[in-house]
Amino acid sequence: MDFLELAKNRYSERKFDSRQIEQEKLDRILEAGRIVPTACNYQPQRFYIIKSEKAIETLKHVTPFHYNVPVMILVCYDANTVWRNPHDKWYNNYNSGEQDASIAATTMMYEAEELGIHTIWIRGFDSETVSKAFDLPDNIIPVMMLGLGYPKEGSSAHAWHFNRMPIEKMATEL
Ligand SMILES: Cc1cc2nc3c(=O)[nH]c(=O)nc-3n(C[C@H](O)[C@H](O)[C@H](O)COP(=O)(O)O)c2cc1C
Repeated sequence: MDFLELAKNRYSERKFDSRQIEQEKLDRILEAGRIVPTACNYQPQRFYIIKSEKAIETLKHVTPFHYNVPVMILVCYDANTVWRNPHDKWYNNYNSGEQDASIAATTMMYEAEELGIHTIWIRGFDSETVSKAFDLPDNIIPVMMLGLGYPKEGSSAHAWHFNRMPIEKMATEL
């Protein structure tokens, strides 16, 4: 499928059925997150796969936005591995971690879409609570969670999906 068509078809899934994702598909999704560009190629993105009964139970305690997903990938970055930007005086001690992790998450999201797996991008959680609940080391910083699964029959996009600003409001030629 043409990429733009794929990107337009994707929507945030909030109704998942209980079917598990095939391991080969999950492996491909993780591979898509592995090979992304990162600042200075430092590769600080780290993925935690929430799939076991125990991990899913913990997930349900740390975010109301779990939507009964069969698999959630908690996308983090390693603060010891990020590129720190010496050129930027505006941000205080800017580092590339959120950008690197978000590129990985976005690429995984579209690989999933290509495989017929629906996704939901979740940021509705408290980072410290998540870190403690999954016993993450202090240098591992949660960025987002990517919910993955097959949609429930009859599921469709929320109205927000169809509400996008015109390009003239977003893009300005300088
Ligand atoms: C940074 C970010 C954080 C988000 N956090 C949540 C969330 O916590 N819960 C949720 O239900 N959706 C969340 N979403 C999904 C957005 O609400 C959704 O992408 C937006 O409304 C557009 O709809 P669409 O993805 O169906 O096109 C998040 C999306 C992004 C990019």
